[in-house]
Amino acid sequence: MRDFKTILVTGGAGFIGSNLIRYLLSDKSGFTGRIVNLDALTYAGNPDSLADIDKRLGGKRYFFLKADICDRKAVEKAFTDYAIDAVCHLAAESHVDRSILGPEAFIRTNVMGTFTLLDVARIAWKDRSDVLFHHVSTDEVFGSLGDSGFFTETTPYDPRSPYSASKASSDHLVMAYHHTYHLPVTLTNCSNNYGPYQFPEKLVPVMILNMIEDKPLPVYGDGKNIRDWLYVEDHNSAVWTVMQNGVLGQTYNIGGENEWENIKLLDRLIDLVAEESGKSSASLRSLITYVKDRPGHDRRYAIDCSKLKTELGWRQSVTFDEGLRKTVRWYLDNSGWINRVRSGEYRTWMDVNYTQR
Ligand code: NAD
Ligand code: DAU
Repeated sequence: MRDFKTILVTGGAGFIGSNLIRYLLSDKSGFTGRIVNLDALTYAGNPDSLADIDKRLGGKRYFFLKADICDRKAVEKAFTDYAIDAVCHLAAESHVDRSILGPEAFIRTNVMGTFTLLDVARIAWKDRSDVLFHHVSTDEVFGSLGDSGFFTETTPYDPRSPYSASKASSDHLVMAYHHTYHLPVTLTNCSNNYGPYQFPEKLVPVMILNMIEDKPLPVYGDGKNIRDWLYVEDHNSAVWTVMQNGVLGQTYNIGGENEWENIKLLDRLIDLVAEESGKSSASLRSLITYVKDRPGHDRRYAIDCSKLKTELGWRQSVTFDEGLRKTVRWYLDNSGWINRVRSGEYRTWMDVNYTQR
C-alpha cells in the first residue's frame, strides 16, 4: 500500500476537492500526512468550505495556496516549498453549460493546467518511484449511451461537449506522461457526484435551492436524460483507495450504480425537501418547468465499476435516499455558505443564462 507525506490537492476549494480534504484529514482515511490545497479561487472555489479545517489544522496538517495551475512558477514553488510526494488533481472548469457559453477557460485550465502540473511533477520527481500523480476525471469522456450498456475502462473516448473534450485531452496527457516519461500515475473516471458544498449551478443544488425559494425548477428537454448518481464521500473514498492501491498507469471507473432519469430524481427530491422543510410537495411539484434543452445534451451515462470493486475492494457506503436526505438537510442548514457563494459573478452569469433559455 502506498503512503504519502504531503499531498498536493488541486481544486481543493471546490465541491469534490473540499470534501476530499475533509475526508483525508478525518480518521476515516487513515492518512496521517499533510495536505497542500492549491486553488485559484474561481467563482466555483470557496475557502469557506474548509474554514473549520483551516482553523483546526491550518499551518500544521493543512496549507492553502491561492494559485493558478497554469502558473508554472507557482506550481514549482509549491513542489519545492512543501516537498510534495503526491498530487491529487481536481482543479478544473467543471460545468458543461458554462463550457457551451465560453469554452476557452476550459481549454486553458483543463488542458494547459493539467499539462503544467504534469510537467512540473516530471521534472521535480525525476526517476522517483515513491510518488504519485492521481488525475480525477469524468465519465463524460466516453460520450453518451443508448438505452442499454455501461461505460467500462476500455470504452473508446467520444467526448461531445467542450468540457468533456477538455477532460479527455487531460486524460490523454496523463497517460502520455506515464508511457513516455514513466511518471507514476493513476486515473479515475467518475459519474455525477452530489452532496454538501456543491456549487449551486449543478442539478441537485439548483433544484434544492429553487425549492427553498419557491422558484421554477428548470428541467432541460424532456427530463428523461439519465445520470448515475454517486455520493461525494463515496467518490472520495474510491479516489483514496486508488491512490493507495491502484496499479500504476491504470484507469478505474467510479460509479454509484444508481441510474435516475432527471425527472424521476426531481420527483424524489421534492418529497425529501417537503419532508425536511415542511413545505407542501404539491406546491413544490407545481414549480416544475420544462425549458429549452442543453445543446448536444448527452442522453445517458452509466458506469460499470466492477474493476474497482473486484480488484481493490471498494464499495459505496450510502443509499441514494440516505445521501440525498443528508444533502437536502445540509443545504437547509447552511444558508450562510449559500448566500456567500451566490453573490457577485455567479448571480450575473446565472441571470444571463436563465434569460437565454
Ligand atoms: P468545482 O467546479 O466545484 O471546483 C473546481 C475547483 O477548481 C474550484 O475550487 C476552482 O477554484 C478550482 N480551479 C478552477 N480553475 C483553476 C485553475 N486554473 N487553477 C487552480 N484552481 C482552479 O468542481 P468539482 O465538481 O469539485 O469537480 C472536481 C473535479 O472532478 C473536476 O476535475 C471535474 O472534472 C471532476 N469531476 C466532477 C464530477 C461532478 O459530478 N462534480 C464528476 C466527475 C468528475
Ligand atoms: O458525469 C460526470 C459529470 O457530471 C461531471 O464531469 C461534471 O463536472 C458535472 O457537472 C456533471 O455533469 P452533468 O452535465 O451531468 O451535470 P449537471 O448537474 O449540469 O446536469 C445533470 C443533468 O440534469 C443533465 O442531464 C442536465 C440536467 N439539468 C441540469 C441543470 C443544472 C436540468 O435538467 N436542469 C438544470 O437546471
